[in-house]
Amino acid sequence: MRRFVVLVHRVPRDGNFTLNDLAGGAGRMDEIARAVSTAFTVSNDLRRDTQVIALFGGEGSPASGRRITVSGTRVRYLNPDERSTAALLKNALVRAADFPREFESSPGLVVGPVDVREELRRLAAEPGGVWLTEDGTPWRVSPPTGPPTTFFLSDPYEPTDDEKSVLAAAKLSQVSIGPRSLRTSQVIDIVHHELDLAEASER
Ligand SMILES: C[S@@+](CC[C@H](N)C(=O)[O-])C[C@H]1O[C@@H](n2cnc3c(N)ncnc32)[C@H](O)[C@@H]1O
Repeated sequence: MRRFVVLVHRVPRDGNFTLNDLAGGAGRMDEIARAVSTAFTVSNDLRRDTQVIALFGGEGSPASGRRITVSGTRVRYLNPDERSTAALLKNALVRAADFPREFESSPGLVVGPVDVREELRRLAAEPGGVWLTEDGTPWRVSPPTGPPTTFFLSDPYEPTDDEKSVLAAAKLSQVSIGPRSLRTSQVIDIVHHELDLAEASER
């Protein structure tokens, strides 16, 4: 399975935003929706081997964050356009706002309360994680080895110092996929591309 953990910083965690202002008042939900869409959609198909975990932190205590897990094995109603993907994510956040436990808000999309710092620590402690960062070792110089793994990356905002220290403490390998700072969705596309090429050459 290919898993992407996206650190989300300014999207209102209660889903209180309008779909008409995704890049503004919604805290760059446009890019989160694009990243989710890019992670799963290919031409006329979905990548069933992929999972995206979006950790919604930002203002307020890390303990009152939200986690949305989208699983390719089960996901439905995921279209290539970012507005409908944003609507799926917004629906999850709105319904989770006053709900104390994790639940499936639509097929393949699970949402619930989470302590972002603790969840990041847990995920980063799993073997084989890769921190995608502009300052990392170039992928082409040192491609991640072993089976596809968990890739950590941020939304259009820098990871917080707290998030950086959790990732650094886990001693993840830090990997750059190119010399330019790219958009979150572009980074996901390139990682899929590299993994697709590696898988094809193994056949
Ligand atoms: C739009 S960038 C973050 C914003 C950028 N660091 C800034 O504040 O100017 C989104 C995320 O994609 C990942 N990323 C962007 N370019 C990358 C690259 N060349 N190599 C690896 N990861 C990259 C990083 O995780 C980054 O935090």
